[in-house]
Amino acid sequence: MREAGKILADVHARLGEFVRPGISTLDIDTLGEKLIRGYGCIPNFLNYNGYPASICVSVNDEVVHGIPRADRILQEGDIVSLDAGLIYKGYHSDAARTHAVGEISEEAARLIAVTRQSFFEGIKAAKAGGHLHDISAAIDDYVSGFGYGIVRDLVGHGIGSRLHEDPQIPNFRQKRRGVRLQAGMTLAVEPMINSGGWPVEWLADGWTVVTKDGSLSAHYENTILITDGEPEILTLVESPA
Ligand code: MF3
Ligand code: CO
Repeated sequence: MREAGKILADVHARLGEFVRPGISTLDIDTLGEKLIRGYGCIPNFLNYNGYPASICVSVNDEVVHGIPRADRILQEGDIVSLDAGLIYKGYHSDAARTHAVGEISEEAARLIAVTRQSFFEGIKAAKAGGHLHDISAAIDDYVSGFGYGIVRDLVGHGIGSRLHEDPQIPNFRQKRRGVRLQAGMTLAVEPMINSGGWPVEWLADGWTVVTKDGSLSAHYENTILITDGEPEILTLVESPA
């Protein structure tokens, strides 16, 4: 899991450097798949429930699961969420980042920063002996202060020898405490935050999730390892060995 995470961290770093006005969302997928396979890994999104690409590329009001296209060209001022995952020796990693395309508005930059920070606020509660929904509540408390909408239809998840495992990890406060966290659990924590309301809808392609009100959306995700102390963020390290 550590190695799967390390490699994915590097893939994301390279994709982030590649993002600029004028490239297509398919260009990002092409590079991402090449990088993943270059490490001898398998893109775990490809063919997942029929998903037709290796990277999810979601622009502006697209929340997640945008399908890469040659005719979808990134423009200055866009924000683009890249979600990627891979399999290394049978173990999965999953991570997402939202990037600015050239110069973006202050409003968009703040949404990206708050979404990223909400992950870090959430994992302050990710400790053995604590409860799963402490993470959810911590994300909710932080994000709600900004008046943003927290996506409710999609959640984080356990991850390991499969991409999606139990438990589900909502990014908003729950009535129950959720399972007790134990050292050795690996989780994908992934807040999806809208600048407007939380409702989302699915496009006719069956995949792309967009905000109902057309507001911007950002996504930030890492695969983490629960320990008795601070969690290890497996998909956030400098570069692979
Ligand atoms: N990271 C995504 C998630 O956890 C996985 C997308 S799978 C795909 O929902 F098939 F949609 F690409
Ligand atoms: Co995920």
